Amino acid sequence: MTKLEVINPATNEVLERLDYATHEQINHQIKQAHQAFQNWKKVDAHERSAKLAQWAQLIDDHQDELARLITLEGGKPLAEAKGEVAYANSYVKWYAEEAKRVYGRTIPANSPSKKIVIDKFPVGVVGAITPWNFPAAMITRKMAPALAAGCTIICKPAVKTPLTTIKLVELAHQAGFPKDAISYIIASGKDAGDIFTNHSLISKVTFTGSTAVGKSLIESSAQQVKNVTMELGGLAPLIVHNDADIEAAVDGTIASKFRNAGQTCICANRIYVHEDIAEAYNEKLIEKVHALSVGDGLKEEVKIGPLIDNQAVEKVLTHIKDAQEKGGQLSRSIEDIQALGGNFLKPVVITNANLDMKAMHEETFGPVAPVMTYSDLDEVINIANDTEFGLASYFFTNDYRTGLKLFNELEYGVIGWNDGGPSAAHAPFGGLKESGYGREGGVEGIEPYLETKYLSIQE
Ligand code: SIN
Repeated sequence: MTKLEVINPATNEVLERLDYATHEQINHQIKQAHQAFQNWKKVDAHERSAKLAQWAQLIDDHQDELARLITLEGGKPLAEAKGEVAYANSYVKWYAEEAKRVYGRTIPANSPSKKIVIDKFPVGVVGAITPWNFPAAMITRKMAPALAAGCTIICKPAVKTPLTTIKLVELAHQAGFPKDAISYIIASGKDAGDIFTNHSLISKVTFTGSTAVGKSLIESSAQQVKNVTMELGGLAPLIVHNDADIEAAVDGTIASKFRNAGQTCICANRIYVHEDIAEAYNEKLIEKVHALSVGDGLKEEVKIGPLIDNQAVEKVLTHIKDAQEKGGQLSRSIEDIQALGGNFLKPVVITNANLDMKAMHEETFGPVAPVMTYSDLDEVINIANDTEFGLASYFFTNDYRTGLKLFNELEYGVIGWNDGGPSAAHAPFGGLKESGYGREGGVEGIEPYLETKYLSIQE
């Protein structure tokens, strides 16, 4: 079988050649993980917690090495990659604590001679499929709660970014986790998806990625009524109301929109600014966006790295050209946007955006900020909600009534109010509608790895 080539998107150099696992090897690994589950589920919560804490310590000790791997295989600028390592580790630290807080309860029975006890149990072996845009955080957000709950887990990282996973799993083994309690496979998404969803020893499938792939995993998981968690696509609206602090709104827009060069599921895809402040907001936004330096993420000054591959570049260019054809005004020319060549695109603001543009109704996944003006708050809320997606949304206002109205009416699972970076290990992350179901992070994030049983005792 041909080898998997892991490519540096900044240079297109091959970083590593890895063997794909055969179907036999994957099936064998699932059996081993199932065997390991028989012991791991009996390990007490305090010991599971201690092992997670030890893993977290090792991740801290290797943060520079991990960050460099993220930059090399994913293109993310080094400072941002370090931020991702800290973010990834915050899940390990959080679930090291939550392992000790999986509570059952008792319920008053309808007879004095009865007692009802409720308890939680790990679901079993978990098959996790993770994306390339956060090669560390999307792994730990699944692995840490699964292990804390007493599950064992096999992760299939994105084929573009497996090296970070390999290192994280190596550190987990050093921390004392049994070899088969936490492991990875190198496989295509199709192979892993087919095997995980159809294998009777996999009790749960957790996936972060596109809605299209999520739907097909849900469909095949249905054959065995498998427990699934789906973190799928987004099309985040960002609304800047006329009473917003413009400077803060611009900074929040940049934090959301240009994180990882716009390659996040929660990044602002479409921006709506109130007509009263549009001119001032656009001017400031363009000034700050054009100041973002683009290049190889290993260079200190770089704020925007390469896109993941040429296909991504082509898709983003399609959105830009489509917007231009439909009346959008680009803050820099198409030639300038592509001037660095390779997988690099300079960030661009598109003013005079309208709802016909692809960038306003399709996920762009790139450094493009289309801005449309509005005059009526109810109308912009309807526009923001008029999509099958419901992952993240943002708004900027200094009026508490407007803020609460937006919080109540926006149909999104994650909402930032004057906040372009709402993600946190202690908060539940996840989407409504076709952006998926289940939550990761917070006290909610361990629940998908637990089953509830109740016991009725008759004296
Ligand atoms: C994603 O949207 O791709 C994940 C981002 C996050 O956890 O903040």
